[in-house]
Amino acid sequence: MRKKLLSMILCVLLCAGCTNGKKRNDDKIKIGVSVYDSYDTFISELMRDFNAAVAENPDITVEVYNASVSQQTQNKQMEQMIEKGCDVICINLVDRTAPKKIIDLAKKNNIPVIFFNRELVEEDLNQWEELYYVGADAAESGIMEGEVAAEALRNEEADKNGDGVIQYIVLEGEAGHQDAIVRTERSVDTLIDEGFEVDKIASAIANWSRSQAQTRMAGFIDTYGDEIELVLGNNDDMALGAIDAYKAAGIERKDWPVIVGIDGTTAGLQAVVNGEMLGTVYNDQKGQAEAMANLAEALARGESLDDLNLKNGRYIRLPYQKITIDNVNDYLD
Ligand code: BGC
Repeated sequence: MRKKLLSMILCVLLCAGCTNGKKRNDDKIKIGVSVYDSYDTFISELMRDFNAAVAENPDITVEVYNASVSQQTQNKQMEQMIEKGCDVICINLVDRTAPKKIIDLAKKNNIPVIFFNRELVEEDLNQWEELYYVGADAAESGIMEGEVAAEALRNEEADKNGDGVIQYIVLEGEAGHQDAIVRTERSVDTLIDEGFEVDKIASAIANWSRSQAQTRMAGFIDTYGDEIELVLGNNDDMALGAIDAYKAAGIERKDWPVIVGIDGTTAGLQAVVNGEMLGTVYNDQKGQAEAMANLAEALARGESLDDLNLKNGRYIRLPYQKITIDNVNDYLD
C-alpha cells in the first residue's frame, strides 16, 4: 500500500512539469532543422524566413544543420538533434525516397517530424501519426509556368522562324524530385492546352543550379542557336543560368528566347523587373516558413492543430502565384 502511494506521488511529481510529455505555454522549445543543401537559393531564402518567424518568440531556439546533399549525414544529424533534446524536428530530406531511418528514430524517441519542400510518398508519411509535410502543389506550379509562358509567347512574337511551332528547351531540377518531374510535364501540357504547337529541342538536368544550367545552356546555344524560342526553367536559378549563358555568348537581349522560371527568389524577381525573365511563379517560401514555425510550436506544446488547416490532418500546402512585370512589385520587399 505504502509502495503504491509512493509511486503515485512520484508520478505526480514527475508529471507536474509537462502535459503528455509536451511543453507548456511558458516553457522553452527547441526546434531542430536539417536542410538538404544550404547553398540551394530557395532553401536558404526559406530558412531566412523561418528564422525570422521563430525569432519573434523568445521561448523558441532553433538549431539548423546542413546535410550537404548526403542522406547519411542527415540521418546522423537526426540522431544529434534527438540527443540535444529537440522537441520537434524539421527535415528537408536529401533523398525523398529514403526517409526510413528518420521515421524510425522519430517514432522510437516520440518526436514529431515536419518534412518540408522535398515530399516523401504518402505511404511513408502514414507510417506514424506524428509526421507532417509542409510544401506546395507541384502540379499547380507547372500549370502556372505554362500560363506565364503562354502569355509571354503571345506578347513577344516569340515564333522567330514563323513556322507556327514553339521550339523549346527545358532545364530540369534533380532527377526524382517531385517538383522537377511534375513541373516539366505540366508546363508543357498547359502550353498545348493554351493552343500552342510545341516542339522539344532538348532538355537537361541541371539540379536546380544556376551554374550547371549556364553550362548546359551554353552547349544548347552553340548547337541550336537561333532555333531556341522558349526556355522553361524548373526553377528561377536555372532560368537565370540560361540568361547568364546568353549574356556570356554576347547575344543581344532582343535575340533571346522567352525565358521563364519558378520560385520568385530575390534574384528571380529582379530579373523579372529588368525584363530579362518574362515571368515566374511564386513558391511561397515565406508562407511555408511561417506554417512550419506555427506547426512546430503547436506540436511541441501539444496544442490543437485545428487553426492550421491541415489537409488529411498532416499536410500544409501553400498556393503558388503567377508573377509577371505587371505584379512583380507586390513581391519585392
Ligand atoms: C524549388 C527549387 C529548389 C528545390 C529544392 C523546389 O521547390 O523550386 O528552387 O532548388 O525545391 O528541393
